[in-house]
Amino acid sequence: MLTRRKLFASAAGVAIGGAAVGVGLEKELGSARPSDPVPFGPQPAGLPVRQHAWTATLADDEDGNPIAPRFDRLLFFDLEGRPTPGDARTLEAVLRALERAYPWGPNGLLFTAGWGPGYFERGLKLASPIERPQALSSFELPILDDYDLCLHFACDDEDRVASVAAALVEGESLPGIKDSLALTEGLRWRETRTGFVGTGLPASHQNVGGIPPGDPVPASAPLFMGFKSGLRKNQATEDDVTIADGPFAGGTTVQVSYLRLRLDSWYGMLDEQERVARMYAPEVSLAEVNRFTTDAESDPQLLDQAISRYGVIGHSQTSARARRNGKPLLIRRDFNTVDGGEAGLHFVSLQRTIHDFVTTRTAMNASRATIQNPSITATINNGINEFFLVVRRANYIVPSRAERSYPLLGGRRLT
Ligand code: HEM
Repeated sequence: MLTRRKLFASAAGVAIGGAAVGVGLEKELGSARPSDPVPFGPQPAGLPVRQHAWTATLADDEDGNPIAPRFDRLLFFDLEGRPTPGDARTLEAVLRALERAYPWGPNGLLFTAGWGPGYFERGLKLASPIERPQALSSFELPILDDYDLCLHFACDDEDRVASVAAALVEGESLPGIKDSLALTEGLRWRETRTGFVGTGLPASHQNVGGIPPGDPVPASAPLFMGFKSGLRKNQATEDDVTIADGPFAGGTTVQVSYLRLRLDSWYGMLDEQERVARMYAPEVSLAEVNRFTTDAESDPQLLDQAISRYGVIGHSQTSARARRNGKPLLIRRDFNTVDGGEAGLHFVSLQRTIHDFVTTRTAMNASRATIQNPSITATINNGINEFFLVVRRANYIVPSRAERSYPLLGGRRLT
């Protein structure tokens, strides 16, 4: 990282990135990049034990469904060398500085730190408590990410998530924090993914690859596909997805995939009722969708009828077969993206075990339907499977807040 001293030296005439640095920029960079690492400080009182305890902070819509934070960033890092207790203290100091700067909630900042299998296996030489990702359908060949650390940030202020990412990755300063939050001690930044979810945002970002011309995404839609997602009863609760015991008690698992959307035929060839059939179920009408309040279960009991009578099945209908005691297994914290100039979805879901995710994704594949009616294939007339490509998959374990910085590392002292 550039230190303040190096920047001043540069300002004397040396080029950075090919451009001569002038005095104005010296001042700007000098003040924008604090050089002293943030000291290890206290945590504000009253923060939840669970890192994934976001829901209580969210506002509800008129039906009592939580409204997701509007903007997200996913930051991925690898370990640089063998992890040390000092590295753990540095990361914890940075996360605590963020907790002190912003209240826990969408008006401030929400975040989780999750750790991948490689962190445990390569970094700690331990068996990983979390499985490696794998392809989960016959029609995907995803890149299987192998990052050590995934930080997920979310809030309602796009500038804030962007500047938090810039502070951690590039060492930019944040308002009110005079020291550096750069995560360069023991960690190497690898990738950032960006996104948004909520009324109006997809429409205002629709001029990208994967969306046909003509502004087809409705102005009111919270997601590119035009429907609202995240109704209360279509989600697990935070209690449901929390690990009950062991070193990760109070934690959860997170599955992070990157789906690239291909909505040409979604908007170009299907009418609204045909889209409803594929998103929910062929037995569901558009009028019913507009009356959904807290549950769009789309009756999985009617799946056989959908297969034989309609030759088309719905995403919500097939996925709901994975419910346990009538409740879904996942909390979906997904959001749309235009990363790389392409419409996409960063599918972030929390579940108690990765097995719960695999069960749900397998239900969504509905492979039995393709045998029962040849007009249904793995993708055609099969929910929304035709309209996206799985580009990447990854699994992480999200410890409790107290264990979030380098979990299971010997010799850590975080008090
Ligand atoms: C482009 C991608 C996707 C979109 C636009 C989407 C949208 C939706 C919508 C509108 C619903 C109806 C219920 C609600 O309002 O929440 C739903 C349900 C659901 N989706 Fe998706 N979904 C997508 C991808 C996925 C993926 C990749 C999974 C992973 C397995 C998934 C799992 C589920 C589950 C578990 C439910 C609830 C089922 C139940 O009620 O039991 N979705 N989705």
